Amino acid sequence: MKIRDYPEGERGAFNPDALLSPTLPSRYYHDPAIYRRELRGIFHKSWCYVGHAGQLPEPGDYRVERVADQCIFLLRGEDSEIRAFFNVCQHRGHELLDGQGSCRKRIVCPYHAWSYSLDGRLIQAPHTEQLQGFDPADFALRPVRLANCAGLLFANLDNDAAEFAQEYPGLQETLSESLPTIDSFGTAFQFDYDIAANWKIVVDNFSEGYHIPVAHRKLTQVLDSGSGRCARQERRYAFFESRSKAGYEGLELEPGSPYRSWTLWPNTCMLSLPGCENLVVIRMAANGPDRCREHVDLLAANGEVTPTLEALKGLFADQFNSEDIAIVESVHRGLKSLAYDQGRYVVDQKDGWYSESGLHRFHRSILEALDE
Ligand code: FES
Ligand SMILES: [Fe+2]
Repeated sequence: MKIRDYPEGERGAFNPDALLSPTLPSRYYHDPAIYRRELRGIFHKSWCYVGHAGQLPEPGDYRVERVADQCIFLLRGEDSEIRAFFNVCQHRGHELLDGQGSCRKRIVCPYHAWSYSLDGRLIQAPHTEQLQGFDPADFALRPVRLANCAGLLFANLDNDAAEFAQEYPGLQETLSESLPTIDSFGTAFQFDYDIAANWKIVVDNFSEGYHIPVAHRKLTQVLDSGSGRCARQERRYAFFESRSKAGYEGLELEPGSPYRSWTLWPNTCMLSLPGCENLVVIRMAANGPDRCREHVDLLAANGEVTPTLEALKGLFADQFNSEDIAIVESVHRGLKSLAYDQGRYVVDQKDGWYSESGLHRFHRSILEALDE
């Protein structure tokens, strides 16, 4: 992307050098035309987290998921393979499945009962015997590419996108080295939040630690922020390692326990909180320019809820995530103010824990993705 293509705001053009750059102009957070470009340029062609393999234990189990405006479902086949398909019948477009459950041996459309095998072939279409030139093989479900990274499932709607492993090199290793029991992980808790904010504001907030000492008093009792460092920076993800303090009453920790986090392009953040092996996987599902749904999977060995995990869930769900939601909704309202268009990225050359350089990198990726 050439410098002259970076968008202008009232404080100047976005600059690829974070030390010089004003922030993303505020229209990027509420203009419906920019949102439509994000759908095409980002969500229809990136690898997006859609759930954990353990959420589909048996053949026939399915879950309906959304990737921004597109509805898909994940399904475990009779061969135990997990596949993904667009959730649309090839007859007249009715949605095939709803929510989650088991469709046993076949997927039957609730409108006119066209039936598909668990690997997506059309196997029954009532009263189609007399149709001319009708070949059921032409009406199979449209598959969606799916990657399994240490049990985490990522979908990509674009058949031409690069392989997951090529886009996120070493991610699986950072997970399995940090969490040796990850292969036994299951879902201990799941929760959802409907947030009145553009999805990028929520990702922005996860991408910087500058606000932590100010906005998260309880978290500051756990996180030794001086110990934070970026352990791996790739084009599509970053991996951070830090250490815990002794915690607080109700969550006592061995000081120096690992506290890790990952940010994954475009809309997933993961935390492994100190105290036990766990992974909090958070995805920001865009839902128009003004809303998003935050889905959280809290994963742990065998999905088992221990007292420590319960305390960590409280720290995340009742404390700092609620604090963050109030923050991002306030920022969303503020970004619509006539008195605000752009601020500055607060960065340092050492890329320290407090630096907003990850925020600047995220915005640069957004602008590159929109340069269709
Ligand atoms: S739309 Fe599915 S069978 Fe008619
Ligand atoms: Fe926060």
